[in-house]
Amino acid sequence: MDNLISSDIEAPVMEVVRIRKSSRAFADKPVPETVIRSLFEAARWAPSSRNEQPWKYIYATSDQTELWQRIFNSLMDGNKTWVQHAPLLIVSMMRKNFSRDAAPNPTAAYDLGAANAFLTLQATSMGLNVRQMAGFYPHKLKEALRVPADYEVVSVMAVGYAALPDKLPPELQQRENAPRTRFRQPAFVMNQIFDE
Ligand SMILES: Cc1cc2nc3c(=O)[nH]c(=O)nc-3n(C[C@H](O)[C@H](O)[C@H](O)COP(=O)(O)O)c2cc1C
Repeated sequence: MDNLISSDIEAPVMEVVRIRKSSRAFADKPVPETVIRSLFEAARWAPSSRNEQPWKYIYATSDQTELWQRIFNSLMDGNKTWVQHAPLLIVSMMRKNFSRDAAPNPTAAYDLGAANAFLTLQATSMGLNVRQMAGFYPHKLKEALRVPADYEVVSVMAVGYAALPDKLPPELQQRENAPRTRFRQPAFVMNQIFDE
């Protein structure tokens, strides 16, 4: 299995793909409102099944203390350790049913993921760092934000300008400094049918 994992970029990719990473360390520097608008503009232009655009976001900057805290308080403890310094939190949600006929939308999470990926790459191109989280308590967060029943909360993103990890607890510093790895393409790309 070892030769199926590597830390290298093994074919040319866009600059933002090459440099993006999910750091846990944030500088004490706010994200301007104009930049926030660009992040959501990138999400806006993501593709979606039937152009349903099932995504919905609630964001809070750390100077919006009350709203920011509502999101922060719904995170799991392991995430709270590092998220406390993030100047911007974004909750990503999806509308579960199509708006035209209320039928379940089987690709809502897929479409939201695409929008989040666009947002993340836009953020990277603007010098920002994004770390996504599934480590939150959905019921708590839904209640705190009064999320309607036809929406599902899928992820929370911590956004800001990256900093050196020296203010993080030692265990997290170690993880920040560890090499990032990925499966090599032969582990997940095929040019033939599955073996019988
Ligand atoms: C849907 C999703 C949920 C994640 N949940 C968490 C989380 O709760 N806590 C955390 O520290 N990182 C979380 N991550 C970050 C991943 O661990 C990280 O993206 C992965 O290790 C790859 O590292 P990279 O983004 O730097 O390439 C999550 C990422 C995604 C996409």
